[in-house]
Amino acid sequence: MNRESCFYITTPIYYVNDVPHIGHAYTTVAADVMARYKRMHGIDVLFSTGTDEHGQKVQQAAQKEGVTPQQLADRTVQNFKNLWEKLNISYDDFIRTTEPRHIEVVQYIFKKLMDQGDIYKGTYEGWYCIPCETYVSKSQLGEDMICPDCKRPLEKMTEESYFFRMSKYEQPLLEFYENNPTAILPESRYNEIVSFIRMGLKDQSVSRTTLKWGIPIPGDDAHVVYVWFDALINYLTVCGYPEDEQRWRKYWPVVHHLVGKDILRFHSVVWPAMLLALGVNPPKQVFAHGWWTVEGEKMSKSKGNVVDPFEIIEIYGVDPFRYFLLREVSFGLDGDFSEKALVQRINFDLANDLGNLLSRTLQMVVKYFGGIVPEPMLEPTKEDAEIGKEVVKRLMQKFDSYMSRFAYDEALREIWAYIGLANKYIDITMPWKLGEEGEKDRLSNVLYNLCEALKNIALLVAPFMPEKSFEIWEQLGLKDKLSMDSFETMDRPFPAGTAISKKKDVLFPRIDFKKWAVEKAERDSKKGLQPDPGEHEDEISIDDFKKVELRVAKIVAVDHIPGADKLYKLSIDLGYERRMIVAGIKEFYSPEDLVGKKIVVICNLKPAKLRGVVSNGMLLAAESPDGSQLALLTVDNEDIPLGSRVH
Ligand code: ME8
Ligand code: MG
Repeated sequence: MNRESCFYITTPIYYVNDVPHIGHAYTTVAADVMARYKRMHGIDVLFSTGTDEHGQKVQQAAQKEGVTPQQLADRTVQNFKNLWEKLNISYDDFIRTTEPRHIEVVQYIFKKLMDQGDIYKGTYEGWYCIPCETYVSKSQLGEDMICPDCKRPLEKMTEESYFFRMSKYEQPLLEFYENNPTAILPESRYNEIVSFIRMGLKDQSVSRTTLKWGIPIPGDDAHVVYVWFDALINYLTVCGYPEDEQRWRKYWPVVHHLVGKDILRFHSVVWPAMLLALGVNPPKQVFAHGWWTVEGEKMSKSKGNVVDPFEIIEIYGVDPFRYFLLREVSFGLDGDFSEKALVQRINFDLANDLGNLLSRTLQMVVKYFGGIVPEPMLEPTKEDAEIGKEVVKRLMQKFDSYMSRFAYDEALREIWAYIGLANKYIDITMPWKLGEEGEKDRLSNVLYNLCEALKNIALLVAPFMPEKSFEIWEQLGLKDKLSMDSFETMDRPFPAGTAISKKKDVLFPRIDFKKWAVEKAERDSKKGLQPDPGEHEDEISIDDFKKVELRVAKIVAVDHIPGADKLYKLSIDLGYERRMIVAGIKEFYSPEDLVGKKIVVICNLKPAKLRGVVSNGMLLAAESPDGSQLALLTVDNEDIPLGSRVH
């Protein structure tokens, strides 16, 4: 359990020269889930997001469109606010850097650091990347004079500039990180930043004379504040620094910044150095998450493959999108967005696992008890314990421990393991049979336990899918009976005698793959994207083909691999030997379907390790283009001996 009573979480403030896309949605949803989770633990949360409105980039974009930078900002800020509303982002504050409250704080800090000698005037000459709003250091410059990050051409700039004495804070910063090993997560990023600081810190230019669109420097009209110096300070503005001392001292010690890995250095080198200079503690934690590509490619306007979150929400609904973003890749690693993967998550995790559990349970409460949740009549059995109190207690402990490390995917996997147990409980207890046989008392226990399980599932899922979990709550009839605002409700038993209110519409409608594939192709062609031609390989000779040693094998045993949703470990018999192979067919076949089948296997493939299991070969299967169907290649003559070659 988290004993902190306050929690301050931030997203980056986004540039207003761009429309919001899936990357912005990702960070913001991730922060929202944590904010909701902490609130459900009774913690006083401050959750902020906002927009970064100054700088060269915004000025240029405005010029191109023939509007003032302020007009451009006023217009695009609305796109962000609309998206956050659609995504149910529960922010407490939305900060815009053009607001007077922020300008005052930036000027105050600039002056304070200047007065104490930590900002001084000098000249700067260097190569500048306008899209990234940053100078590229000599050591990073190649011969082609392009930005090492975004690969666009750099511009040479010489200007009089104010500098922040960052070099002075190299040692204090290293000491801070030594004493705070979780101040940067994931750990690999921590190591990266510490090595970077060890290579030495240079003073940082913090003003510009070459542009007008920025916060004026007090007492020097020729300069405006460098956009990053301005932007980072938003985090202090939001919590009331420096005027509302009580407020900022309450939230600042517990501040967590969520950022993409692209802007980690600003947040874990420049920013904490600025704070040390101010005599304020560096952030408690900066979490750098990974980067999304789209269908295997980098997102870019010119490719036209930028994922529009509005469109995704329109088609698939907000909660499936939120769920997908956090379940599909582990927070901290890079991920690839594909609509096909989203559809699979919807059909398997949401419709099959969670949606079915709810509808099966409610249907039976209606059928056998007229829609009133029965009171448990008998002592709990061993089967009941499988989804009972102790299991839920352990689940909650694991869930909390994953959440404390922002391991959202693991936290969700844990909930889904429990959903799996609840579905299995139905299969084992067979309530329909109890109904037929008139075992009303036992049936009461079973259906009551399922309602109790669903109550707890709704609570755990609530930070991730606030709308759908509320819908579960309503259908369970709990709306006016138990609070959904707190995890304490996990300990309050489901009130027997509650009238459920089952809806006709299912919680997560299954998506028909065939129809979906047609519609997706239509949407893509409207956007001018080429339809997927499928994979076609280069021509090969018969000798090339002969190198592939294909043989007939029989599946003799099938095992699960812990933590792998899609893989089975298969023991196969080749007649002359037995071996292990790993195959990604779990979504399509149950172990009973597989044992005894005669299949075709590539025997001379280099062994490969999958999820820690060595696979000695590969089976052959056909896959439909949309991935919704899969068929094993089998041998239709029982008399063919095992180990026979396939030509
Ligand atoms: O950098 N994958 O703003 P920005 C994952 N204004 N996350 C992504 C992403 C992707 N493909 N693309 C963007 C700025 N993001 C500054 C920040 S903070 C004081 C100032 C997310 O509009 C990710 O969080 O370029 C990344 O750090 C942020 O958007 C960059 O947003
Ligand atoms: Mg950017």
